[in-house]
Amino acid sequence: MGFSLILIFILVSCIFFDLLSPTHGYDSLDPNGNITIKWDLRQQNDGTQDILVSIYNYQLYRHIEPPGWKLSWKWSGKEVIWDMRGAEATEQGNCSEYLGKPQLPHSCEREPVIVDLLPGTPYNMQVQNCCKGGVLSSFTQDPANSMAAFQMNVGSIEMMPYDFKIGLPGYTCGNATKVPPTKFVIDHGRRQTQALGTWNITCSYSPFLASSAPKCCVSLSSFYSETMVPCPICSCACQGEPGSNCVRHGQLHTVSRLPHDEQAPPIVQCSTHMCPIRVHWHVKLSYKEYWRVKITINNLNVIKNYSQWNLVVLHPNLQSLAQVFSFYYKPLSQYGSINDSGIFYGIEHYNDMLLQSGDGGNVQTEMLLHKDAGIFTFKGGWVFPRKVIFNGDECVMPSPFEYPMLPNNSRFFGPSKLCFVILLVLVSLIL
Ligand SMILES: *[C@@H]1O[C@H](CO)[C@@H](O)[C@H](O)[C@H]1NC(C)=O
Ligand SMILES: *[C@@H]1O[C@H](CO)[C@@H](O)[C@H](O)[C@H]1NC(C)=O
Ligand SMILES: *[C@@H]1O[C@H](CO)[C@@H](O)[C@H](O)[C@H]1NC(C)=O
Ligand SMILES: *[C@@H]1O[C@H](CO)[C@@H](O)[C@H](O)[C@H]1NC(C)=O
Ligand SMILES: *[C@@H]1O[C@H](CO)[C@@H](O)[C@H](O)[C@H]1NC(C)=O
Ligand SMILES: *[C@@H]1O[C@H](CO)[C@@H](O)[C@H](O)[C@H]1NC(C)=O
Ligand SMILES: *[C@@H]1O[C@H](CO)[C@@H](O)[C@H](O)[C@H]1NC(C)=O
Repeated sequence: MGFSLILIFILVSCIFFDLLSPTHGYDSLDPNGNITIKWDLRQQNDGTQDILVSIYNYQLYRHIEPPGWKLSWKWSGKEVIWDMRGAEATEQGNCSEYLGKPQLPHSCEREPVIVDLLPGTPYNMQVQNCCKGGVLSSFTQDPANSMAAFQMNVGSIEMMPYDFKIGLPGYTCGNATKVPPTKFVIDHGRRQTQALGTWNITCSYSPFLASSAPKCCVSLSSFYSETMVPCPICSCACQGEPGSNCVRHGQLHTVSRLPHDEQAPPIVQCSTHMCPIRVHWHVKLSYKEYWRVKITINNLNVIKNYSQWNLVVLHPNLQSLAQVFSFYYKPLSQYGSINDSGIFYGIEHYNDMLLQSGDGGNVQTEMLLHKDAGIFTFKGGWVFPRKVIFNGDECVMPSPFEYPMLPNNSRFFGPSKLCFVILLVLVSLIL
């Protein structure tokens, strides 16, 4: 009787432990991450309003890649956009009601879709912070380029529009809430003006809503073991599966020279894992006080260059990262003292562009970590990362039971396997 109770207790704790692992629930590496849309009423006259819309990417490591954001909302009345700078509505819509006016409205759509203008737009169509082709950097990587703005003149607004969307998979936006008015600094900071009204809309990301297949996987190796642990088979897709598209090595050059569309699905080099991105973590050397890791990111997508790529890594020894040789690094310390994750990204004009497969598609760095007394060990796969995220997509990791082993050492038991062993012992005791 007592044993069965213990059995049940252990079973429940094993399940509970699995549920607590970070793959479930919200993003623990960026708990406050969001995109905020700010709607500032700047001026109101003759039944029209001048509105400044700003989009801030407050996400620490998720950026917005080409083709970029597509902001839309629903008007509650008969509003039309007379004029727009720094962005444009994709459709003018039915403006026949305004025939005979000196100029037709910019857009009469009930649900306008707004896109950013491209870099190099004539100066008279720009506003400050506009015209980045919809691309927003992550807040950590390049805060100055993590925001966008456009200005519009709207006729007959009565109520705030609703149902805001930013046109990116996985994001949902809340309703507009009125907030204290924005202050605008002018005359070199000597004077501040104030919006007539300001509303914020917060959009957040959920990987479950994005629900796309993995786009990245991790392989591991170390100086102390001959075993190279490859990416798990079918990490991103299985070769020959319907819908999966892959190119053999000999054909790379023909495909990579074809014209491409930013939104086209990836065409990857054939492999057992079929991922467009592979991250390899190699434990290279051990010194007295330090150990050295080499990180290589391979682009196996034949038709995509990743500009401004980033890599987030979770590893307890990042708290004592001594040197990163060929990438930039910034810690993502979210909880004050816990400093176990950070973002790596490329150095401008050197390796910030991860070229398509066939054009030498890889970037790499080495780094030195201090062997912290009390926590550092080569045992149990401790030297391998807990989590790896490329451009916001979590990478598929090999199972801990496959990690390179220390020679003549017992294998690592993760929580689930340990539970399993205890269960087995108890069951045999009962019997
Ligand atoms: C959005 O992100 C900013 C910056 O991290 C944070 O201050 C703000 O509280 C967040 N907003 C919401 C609604 O989570
Ligand atoms: C355009 O709107 C007018 C009224 O605003 C309507 O009479 C007309 O049928 C609409 N045209 C189309 C093609 O929907
Ligand atoms: C958002 O606004 C819509 C329409 O105004 C309303 O139906 C909905 O309940 C609101 N949602 C929240 C969370 O306030
Ligand atoms: C509204 O958004 C702006 C821009 O992100 C931010 O500075 C401001 O603090 C937000 N206001 C509130 C009350 O969240
Ligand atoms: C990627 O960059 C290479 C070299 O700059 C270029 O030849 C190729 O066309 C680019 N590919 C895409 C899809 O833009
Ligand atoms: C976190 O680690 C980085 C180096 O990896 C260090 O520069 C930073 O000071 C650390 N922060 C805290 C709060 O320990
Ligand atoms: C591991 O064990 C084998 C045989 O048992 C031995 O020859 C080898 O030297 C050992 N290696 C280490 C690193 O201890």
